[in-house]
Amino acid sequence: MSLPDIQEVCVVGAGNMGHQIGLCCALAGYTVKCTDVDRQTLSQAEKFADSYLEGRVSKGKMDANTAKSARDRISFTPEIEIAASSADIVIEAIIENLALKKQLFAALDKICPEHCILATNSSYIVSSKIAPATGRPDKVCNLHFFNPALVMRLVEVVQGPHTSEETVERVFAFAGKLNKTPIILKKEIYGFVVNRILTAILNEALYLHDIGVADCHDIDTAVVNALGHPMGPFKLLDLVGVDLQYHVCMERYKDTGDKLDMPSPLLVEKFVKKEWGRKSGVGFYRYDE
Ligand code: 3HC
Repeated sequence: MSLPDIQEVCVVGAGNMGHQIGLCCALAGYTVKCTDVDRQTLSQAEKFADSYLEGRVSKGKMDANTAKSARDRISFTPEIEIAASSADIVIEAIIENLALKKQLFAALDKICPEHCILATNSSYIVSSKIAPATGRPDKVCNLHFFNPALVMRLVEVVQGPHTSEETVERVFAFAGKLNKTPIILKKEIYGFVVNRILTAILNEALYLHDIGVADCHDIDTAVVNALGHPMGPFKLLDLVGVDLQYHVCMERYKDTGDKLDMPSPLLVEKFVKKEWGRKSGVGFYRYDE
C-alpha cells in the first residue's frame, strides 16, 4: 500500500532551530503546526514568523501574497495532540536530551497517524537510539537542518539500520520540496558529515585560543579572509549556541572516553558562565542590541 503524500508537518520544539524549520515548510506550501512545552518560546516563534515575513516583503524579497499564504499555513499550539494528530511528518527539534526525545517519540507514536514519519533534527543523537521507543522504527530517521534554517541549503537525511528505504526516499523528496539540498547518509555516524568537519574546525580554533596563539577576533578574521568562510568559528559558535557545542563534545567524550574529545577549557568556561552566544546576549562576542 502506498503512503499518502506529505501535506501536513508538525514541528515539535519551536526554539533555535524549530521556529525556522516550521517557516521553511510553510513557505514551501505545507500546512505546519508548531508546538512547544514552553509558552514563551512558542509565542516568540509566532512573533518571529510575523516579523520575518513582514521583513521579507518590505525588503522586496517576497510578494505580500506569498507571505500571507505562508503565514496562514503555519499555526502555533501548546497542545501536542492538536499539533501532531493529523501530521504526515513530525520534525522534532527539542533540546538535545536522549531521555526526553525517547519520551516524546513514544508519545508521538500514540498520537500520530500510522503512516506518519517521525524525524529528529538532532545535531548528534542518531535515530537508532530513539526509534525503539516507537512501534514504527521503519519510519524514524534523522533529518538535520543547519542554522539559520531559513538560509542554509543543506539538509542531512540519515538512514539508521531500522529506517526503511521508503522513509528515506520520502524524506529526501520532502527536503527537496523545501528548496533544500539534501544528502543521504547511508549509515549512522556520530556528528553526521557536517558537524564532524565543523567540530574539527571549532576544536582547532579553541585550541589555538587556549594556548595563547591568537584571540577569538583574529582567529575569526583569519578563517573569513583566508578560507572564505562566511563567518569565523567563534562567531559561528555564538550562532549555533555554545551550550550545544559543549553538549556535542561531552556526548562524544562519554562515547569514546578520549580526553581529546573533551570540551576545551574556554568552551567549558563560557558554558558554565551561561555565555551561550546570541541567544543569551553574550558569548565570544556581545549581542546587547
Ligand atoms: N535567520 C534568517 N535569515 C537570516 C539570518 C537568521 N538568523 N541571518 C541572516 N539571514 C538572512 C538575511 O535576511 C539575508 O537574506 P537576504 O540576502 O535574502 O536578504 C541573508 O541571510 C544574508 O544575511 P546578512 O547579509 O545579514 O549577513 P551575512 O551575509 O553575514 O549572512 C549568515 C549571515 C547566513 C548567517 C552567514 O554568515 C553564514 O552563512 N554563516 C555560516 C552559518 C553556518 O555555517 N551555519 C551552519 C552552522 S552548523 C549547524 O547549524 C549545525 C547544527 O547541528 C546546529
